[in-house]
Amino acid sequence: MKTLAALTLCLFLSACEKEDPLGEPDFGPPVSGPEDESVAQASALERRVDPVVRTARRLVEEGRQTFRFDTFGDEAFWGGALRLHEAIEGEALGGVGPGISPNVALALGLVVDVDALPHRLVAALQRGEVDLDDPAVTVALLGLDAVVGIHGIFGGDRLESVGIHCALCHSTVDDSLVPGIGHRLDGWPNRKLDVGAIIAAAPDLSPIAGLLGIDQGTLRSVLATWGPGKFDAAVLLDGQAAGPTGSAATLIPPAYGLAGVNLHTYTGWGSVPYWNAFVANLEMQGQGTFFDPRLDDETRFPIAAANQFGHRTGPTDRITSKLAALQFYQLALEAPAPPARSFDAKAARRGASVFAASCARCHVPPLYTEPGWNLHEASEIGIDDFQASRSPDGRYRTTPLKGLWSHQTGGFYHDGRFATLADVVDHYDSFLQLGLRAQDKSDLVQYLLSL
Ligand code: HEC
Ligand code: HEC
Repeated sequence: MKTLAALTLCLFLSACEKEDPLGEPDFGPPVSGPEDESVAQASALERRVDPVVRTARRLVEEGRQTFRFDTFGDEAFWGGALRLHEAIEGEALGGVGPGISPNVALALGLVVDVDALPHRLVAALQRGEVDLDDPAVTVALLGLDAVVGIHGIFGGDRLESVGIHCALCHSTVDDSLVPGIGHRLDGWPNRKLDVGAIIAAAPDLSPIAGLLGIDQGTLRSVLATWGPGKFDAAVLLDGQAAGPTGSAATLIPPAYGLAGVNLHTYTGWGSVPYWNAFVANLEMQGQGTFFDPRLDDETRFPIAAANQFGHRTGPTDRITSKLAALQFYQLALEAPAPPARSFDAKAARRGASVFAASCARCHVPPLYTEPGWNLHEASEIGIDDFQASRSPDGRYRTTPLKGLWSHQTGGFYHDGRFATLADVVDHYDSFLQLGLRAQDKSDLVQYLLSL
């Protein structure tokens, strides 16, 4: 709580700004007694705090909490049905198999939030005194809620179940302590995360295999084709496991830089709140309500239609009440600005004109997608329509391009088919017959890296 003196100081030095980005100062308890000038000033300021700003602040805080820490009750699936926690514990702790040690978890792309660790543990990690080959350490980290995106449920010391959060796929860390351990970066796609391998570690995959009508062995081999940074959000709807470039999975996209963008996902399933409801209900297997009669199409979405996925209701809804704040939080996540000197500024300026001439009709600055209906036929961008045809509109969404520099691992386009931005530019050059010179192409790449 700030004292009156500190409050007055910060009124003059705008020192409050740093502590309180949304500008709602903490006034402490009401001050009684004769009003001096600064008290009057303080209450005038209090009156001026815009109720809209107050709402925005509340929604951001609630949304962040949901994004980082809400399982929506999905532990009934990940722990209860698949028994994933038993694979984490390993036999020595009463689970199954060798267990998932911190080193194994890091190799699977899981990351650790350094801010959730007690100082003494950070110091021990720095001195190399923590046994990172012991699954018991992973269980202890889960107890601290330090494994980004995975929530442990404990009965005493015993890990009894696990659930997952949005942050599992859509956050990473800045590696400030060591690679894989650092401060959270919400909205950054975790392109090292091997979701397929994590799911395949669960002892019982029969609930998923049953839906797909295949045996667990076949399911495990499908999951092994996904690879790091990818997940197949449509397989439980249509059962298609392979596409023209290998697996049918798509890259985990950023969850930042989405404000102002109309349709979301690579194939434009809907808006942010549409997709958040979809994911929380149908992918994470949380407990909620979801409505989309488009999924009743038996030809295109046979599994979804047979299981009434577009008409999900239940006795408890732990999702719907969180959608407003969750959307608001995501829209408040800006794409990260490129680090100074991470690109050639002069070349980027030249590249801007190439972009304006050849790319901006679809990637309209500053959104870098179309204001309005932002979908295209596969034939307009010169690729196959496999993934597009798995979605209701059968099209690809123009990807917003801000922050490209921060998610180069895994490649570009929905399935990562282009390993580098130079490959993307080459593709457009030949498909759209742009006739770009070598210098235009490298300038364009520098421009893309500057966004
Ligand atoms: C298991 C990994 C995983 C989890 C967990 C997950 N997502 Fe995603 N998310 C993805 C993938 C993969 C896509 C791309 C799907 C597609 O386009 O086909 C995606 C797409 C999105 C998009 C669209 C982004 C864009 O560019 O339009 C948003 C928004 C999003 N997710 C938000 C969330 C939220 C909110 C949660 C939690 C309720 C969540 N996701 C949980 C993997 C995940
Ligand atoms: C006809 C509309 C259209 C034009 C013109 C166009 N794009 Fe795209 N762009 C798209 C669509 C649609 C996608 C999504 C493709 C996918 O995910 O498979 C995309 C994806 C991209 C991506 C991948 C982003 C990511 O995160 O994976 C980059 C980079 C890109 N475009 C750059 C450009 C550049 C540079 C130009 C000009 C040379 C250009 N685009 C011209 C529609 C267009």
